[in-house]
Amino acid sequence: MEVRVENVRKEFDRFPALHDVSLDIRSGELIALLGPSGSGKTTLLRLIAGLERPTAGRILFGEEDASDKSVQERNIGFVFQHYALFRHMSILENVAFGLKVRPRATRPPMGEIRRRAMELLDLVQLSGLEKRYPSQLSGGQRQRVALARALAIEPRVLLLDEPFGALDAQVRRELRKWLREIHDRTGHTTVFVTHDQEEALELADRLCVMSQGRIEQVGTPDSVYDTPASPFVFGFIGESSQLPVSLENGGVSLAGRPLGLAATGAPGAQRLFFRPHDVELVDDDAALSGTVATSRRVGGTRRVELELGGSEHRVEIDLPFDHPAVERSRIAFRPRRWALFPTA
Ligand SMILES: Nc1ncnc2c1ncn2[C@@H]1O[C@H](COP(=O)(O)OP(=O)(O)OP(=O)(O)O)[C@@H](O)[C@H]1O
Ligand SMILES: [Mg+2]
Repeated sequence: MEVRVENVRKEFDRFPALHDVSLDIRSGELIALLGPSGSGKTTLLRLIAGLERPTAGRILFGEEDASDKSVQERNIGFVFQHYALFRHMSILENVAFGLKVRPRATRPPMGEIRRRAMELLDLVQLSGLEKRYPSQLSGGQRQRVALARALAIEPRVLLLDEPFGALDAQVRRELRKWLREIHDRTGHTTVFVTHDQEEALELADRLCVMSQGRIEQVGTPDSVYDTPASPFVFGFIGESSQLPVSLENGGVSLAGRPLGLAATGAPGAQRLFFRPHDVELVDDDAALSGTVATSRRVGGTRRVELELGGSEHRVEIDLPFDHPAVERSRIAFRPRRWALFPTA
């Protein structure tokens, strides 16, 4: 099911939680909403679900305007970060719940409900635990039950709000892989909220990066990572270094000194962004060069902090951990890939 969010605004007591947000979610895709706390991710998810009404704009399911449809009519599957299971029901009863409470006309026979619930427990790898109660499961197992319960109603859209947020890193990684597999098998349109950019980059077909109630960029993980559309996205997704530079005579200069980076555009103050790992060391007086301030090993690389222009600016670059240059006190480099954004 395709979902279209059209020019949606949401205010809570005049406070705008979302400003004019538009997003096309494609049928069968797994899209991740990513952004800092308070950027409006949960609000957008609740609007899609029908738990909130937009102040302006509308939400379409396929060609159909869903704005006036109830949560049930939208046929949405949900999993929230702390979505409690029904404590007094067994695991099987929890998963079967959504089908059991359907109106008689659309409710499958009991035998069929049981069969489907067992099938889903198998899918989430919990076969054999159907008679247990939620208190007898681990956190990761409970989240899997929550997901099976959400899938049981054969939702048109699956909404997941930080479903693995409360779990430790190892379990998260396993559930992440496993969620991707389930998604590929069932083909549900899935909207997934996460704080964790590694999770989003690995899991999602597309990312939707949000900040302060606005969508900053939508695209594949590669395109968002490689060509961030704004300083916010550059700083938020992946590591970044930045320097205040100026654009003059068709090139980039730092404190009046040309850096050998050609660029077109209106002359003036700009910010230069690059990824610490995306630099090459050069032997060139015109390049960026700085004094090594700190250097520490992070896994297979060495992160070197350089001071430029006296100690006015600091940037980070990554080198292979055993690179001979880390012994030097001064390093000259050039970003391989970089972007300029006008100074706000
Ligand atoms: N029911 C509400 N009443 C008033 N303000 C609200 C309500 N729900 C959300 N807000 C505000 O709207 C903004 C967006 O909130 P939202 O919960 O969508 O953020 P989020 O991106 O999900 O953040 P987090 O990552 O912390 O979950 C916040 O400033 C929040 O305080
Ligand atoms: Mg939230």
